[in-house]
Amino acid sequence: MATKILIIGACGQIGTELTIRLREIYGNDNVIAGDIREGSEELMQSGPFEIVDAMNRTSIEDVCLHYEINEVYLMAAMLSATAEKYPKKAWNLNMDSLFHILNIAKEGKIDKIFWPSSIAVFGPTTPKENTPQQTVMEPSTVYGISKQTGERWCEYYYNKYGVDVRSIRYPGLISWKTLPGGGTTDYAVEIFHEALKNNHYDCFLKEDTSLPMMFMEDAIKATVSIMQTKSENIKQRSSYNLAGMTFTPAEIASEITKHLPDFTVTYQPDFRQSIADSWPGSIDDSVAREDWSWSHDYDLEKMVKEMLDNLK
Ligand SMILES: NC(=O)c1ccc[n+]([C@@H]2O[C@H](COP(=O)([O-])OP(=O)(O)OC[C@H]3O[C@@H](n4cnc5c(N)ncnc54)[C@H](O)[C@@H]3O)[C@@H](O)[C@H]2O)c1
Repeated sequence: MATKILIIGACGQIGTELTIRLREIYGNDNVIAGDIREGSEELMQSGPFEIVDAMNRTSIEDVCLHYEINEVYLMAAMLSATAEKYPKKAWNLNMDSLFHILNIAKEGKIDKIFWPSSIAVFGPTTPKENTPQQTVMEPSTVYGISKQTGERWCEYYYNKYGVDVRSIRYPGLISWKTLPGGGTTDYAVEIFHEALKNNHYDCFLKEDTSLPMMFMEDAIKATVSIMQTKSENIKQRSSYNLAGMTFTPAEIASEITKHLPDFTVTYQPDFRQSIADSWPGSIDDSVAREDWSWSHDYDLEKMVKEMLDNLK
């Protein structure tokens, strides 16, 4: 049977690039982009688009039935910084959407799910460096609580009902095609836009705040790879740790300065500093490397060059 995919939240930072990559792999007509808003020209013109509300189960089921969908990638969510402003809305969106997809799969109407988790599942009591796959998880943000709860439900639906759900704890993602959607690591994308426009960036995190990050190419590669892996090799049914690079605002700024020598940065930490302080500085992803042969391609130097070349 042909792989027929629905991506919900397809017009966001990850969804845009994921949709285009999946269309290259599975064929344009087999990958349906779903969102509550329209996306980039490339996304809208390369294949089918449907208005799908992740909060409305009927809206999801209608599209699944119409296109005979067998795999759903649920990318719609409220991200960390925005979720702190709208806790109840964030909880409702992040949880209801996941339950809809898990229940549709439980009823045998789709075969496979991808649902992203985040490094936000970790909290201030988690070991900060080389955070292991299994460790203390006491998230202190609304977003982190919703992701940790989501992980527990994914594992539960796999164990109890055999739902084939797969997940990755993405670090902060850096991309040039689509702007980020309200997360704490957004600075690492904004810094490039401001460097090229104004030769200056006013950073909302402190200069020595170390966070796990990843270039979008690597995140898309991991997502495609975990979904193509044989089910028996996916041993973590909560979510997998994933690592690419770790850097501070000062370190990324210094790398940008190698290309733009006059670039300057000032630091004015806001409410997002305490979110960043609660997260790990670096991640141990050896379990993903072992279970489904994950490896990353981009380090800080390669990523900065790629960002500047494309945004110029
Ligand atoms: N970007 C990152 O750095 C990062 C890191 C860790 C985890 N994640 C997770 O990856 C997923 C995608 O993140 P992103 O950065 O692409 O987010 P984003 O905010 O850029 O995109 C989310 C998309 O979902 C859509 N959406 C919102 N409400 C919807 C609804 N009710 N129905 C349908 N669509 C709706 C939005 O219109 C948007 O296009 C999220 O689950 C996020 O938590 C992202």
